[in-house]
Amino acid sequence: PSFSRISGTGSALPTRRISNDELAADLAKRGVETSDEWIVARTGIRFRHFADPGTTSVDLGEQAARRALDAAGLSASDIGLIIVATSTPDMIFPSNAALIQGRLGAAGGAAFDVQAVCAGFVYALTVADQFVRSGMARHALVIGAEVFSHILDFNDRTTCVLFGDGAGAVVLSASETPGLLASALHADGRQSSILCTPGRVSGGAITGSPFLKMDGQAVFKQAVHVLEDVAREALAKAGREPADVDWMVPHQANIRIMTHTARKLGIPTDKIVVTVDQHGNTSAASIPLALDVAVRAGQIRRGDTLLFEAVGGGLTWGASVVDY
Ligand code: ACO
Repeated sequence: PSFSRISGTGSALPTRRISNDELAADLAKRGVETSDEWIVARTGIRFRHFADPGTTSVDLGEQAARRALDAAGLSASDIGLIIVATSTPDMIFPSNAALIQGRLGAAGGAAFDVQAVCAGFVYALTVADQFVRSGMARHALVIGAEVFSHILDFNDRTTCVLFGDGAGAVVLSASETPGLLASALHADGRQSSILCTPGRVSGGAITGSPFLKMDGQAVFKQAVHVLEDVAREALAKAGREPADVDWMVPHQANIRIMTHTARKLGIPTDKIVVTVDQHGNTSAASIPLALDVAVRAGQIRRGDTLLFEAVGGGLTWGASVVDY
């Protein structure tokens, strides 16, 4: 087999679901003012899930992985590679991938994390595709798992209303027929300061802020520009046109960025899988989470052509074209 295909999907959300009104009421107690109207108009977000204290990205990632394995009809011992895309790992080390591998009972294969923030899933999928196509692994688990609530500053209304927690996973399997057709990945490290969580553990203390900081307008401007370009690049590599896309499954950061990108590509907005209203921005988890929701709802079907695209801190950005 010289191709990789998505053989199963899974996802997991914390049970605690918070509406904009509930969040606004909580923030008001700290003297932070926001509203459902502001959040919906600027972002499209209506709900997000927050992990209960003690629940981590490994917990959510493990659940999503088990569901993806079930959907693929595989067991943990079939998995030769686990890649977790996360910016909110449980520990500095070992990686979330190693921790999840241990819990699944999939010891023996390779396991590591990929750190490309909101573009992390597209990065991780692209790396896993190289492993599968080259014969290094027959079945790979690619997981996006995040608890951004752990790095949100609830005194900063410009960021804390935007993000949520969750995980999504796919199993990528060796295949005789093409599945992942092409990817394009990019980064511009000169723009690291517009979206970052700069704190570091050093000498037994955290130096620098452990909270997410974002220049929202700067990110917005970059996002709409790079996403169109990288989507066109991946489609061209795949030998496809925007008109061939059955479902666009974008990183779910902001409905305005998602619809703007679709319009620039000439993809009808009713072909966008939208979960940002229900989940907020779950960073590296958002694409596999949206994919799993759409697959289980019967929206995405076998044979559909999918376009994934994402931009995140780094800056990093990427796109993949997939025959599902
Ligand atoms: N509630 C109420 N008012 C608010 C809030 C809030 N939660 N946040 C900001 N405001 C106020 C601001 O203080 C400002 O008030 P002022 O005019 O009195 O100064 C006003 O609203 C407008 O603020 P802007 O920052 O100009 O709002 P903008 O229209 O740019 O929307 C947003 C902000 C939603 C963050 C937008 O810039 C955006 O979506 N940027 C992209 C961010 C993004 O998608 N990041 C994720 C991509 S990468 C990743 O996923 C990690």
